[in-house]
Amino acid sequence: MSPAHQIAVLPGDGIGPEIIAQAVKVLHAFEQKFGVAFTLEYAPIGGAGIEAAEVPLPESTLRLAKSADAVLMGSVGDYKYDNLDPKIRPEQGLLQIRKALGLYANLRPVKCYASLSHVSTLKPEIVTGIDVMVVRELTGGIYFGQPRGREGSGKEEKAYDTLVYSRSEIERIAKVGFEMAMSRQKKLVSVDKANVLASSQLWREVVNGLACQYPEVELSHMYVDNAAMQLILNPRQFDVMVTENMFGDILSDEASMLTGSLGMLPSASLGEVRPDGKRNALYEPSHGSAPQFAGQNKVNPIATILSLAMMLEYSFGYAEGAAQIDTAIAQVLEAGYRTFDIMGEGATQIGTDELGSRIADALLALPEPVSV
Ligand code: IPM
Ligand code: MG
Repeated sequence: MSPAHQIAVLPGDGIGPEIIAQAVKVLHAFEQKFGVAFTLEYAPIGGAGIEAAEVPLPESTLRLAKSADAVLMGSVGDYKYDNLDPKIRPEQGLLQIRKALGLYANLRPVKCYASLSHVSTLKPEIVTGIDVMVVRELTGGIYFGQPRGREGSGKEEKAYDTLVYSRSEIERIAKVGFEMAMSRQKKLVSVDKANVLASSQLWREVVNGLACQYPEVELSHMYVDNAAMQLILNPRQFDVMVTENMFGDILSDEASMLTGSLGMLPSASLGEVRPDGKRNALYEPSHGSAPQFAGQNKVNPIATILSLAMMLEYSFGYAEGAAQIDTAIAQVLEAGYRTFDIMGEGATQIGTDELGSRIADALLALPEPVSV
């Protein structure tokens, strides 16, 4: 058996712990099936961090995340922190860990399982066969730009944020977009608002400047408002979309509806390669902490299980094994087992825990691939 891979597990708040428990179940099935070992170490983030150490990203959590081979995260946020100073709200824990680990490339794959093509609010003929990779810049733009703040009072009170990108920040995420396109259908759409924003004008210039290094990639540009419309008009036109932080946040939630539910959309957030040859990486569902559903054994764990599959592929190189998790999910959905968000006619509604167990069992039952 190879030495154990170290995973930092940060369940977070709301539904985080229950969806993480399902991913861990599938991970144990994976270990059993393929004879590889993982060491899991748990730490608090978000509201859980505030409870444990009065900050959304405790130092010990960050230290653990930095030393681990990969981070598996649930979700952060709870209504009970809504009135806290925005600087110490649970969401800051997530933003801080992304920044501290330099996780600039957020990959959000949008696929629709065949058995769910009738579940989307869009017509089946629109969503069948979609396969889009949203590449979202994650450590820059308006989420982090300075200056930001509030000043003045009364009717003259103002608040402001800054959308700023440097050439190097754009270049590194655009490269991820081009490389991703090269590994797929070789079509890249760069999304910006270059008709209005200076930051988008630089964005477009830099993306165009890189295009000659990727002559095989068919590059096009789309304004973000048009991209939002095209995503529901004709999503099959897209292969890879690359965009800045906030546009990516919004477009990926929209794109999730093509899969049937936000509960189906995983994500991988990748950083630079470290001196030890490893790459900082955090895997989390694209959805939030849904505190209204917490503890009810109700929500869909698939986005988190798919995030685990992305971890197995990107951080540990188990592409075949990860593909088997995908197959296991497809089988369980095909057999009609669903959480409430992806229910359809004739399907059987089950809870979070049972769906996780069924996927783990389906994985164990699959014939082994030649390699993991
Ligand atoms: C996401 C979330 C986060 C974001 C929030 C929770 C800070 O919406 O990962 O898409 O805006 O990036
Ligand atoms: Mg979001």
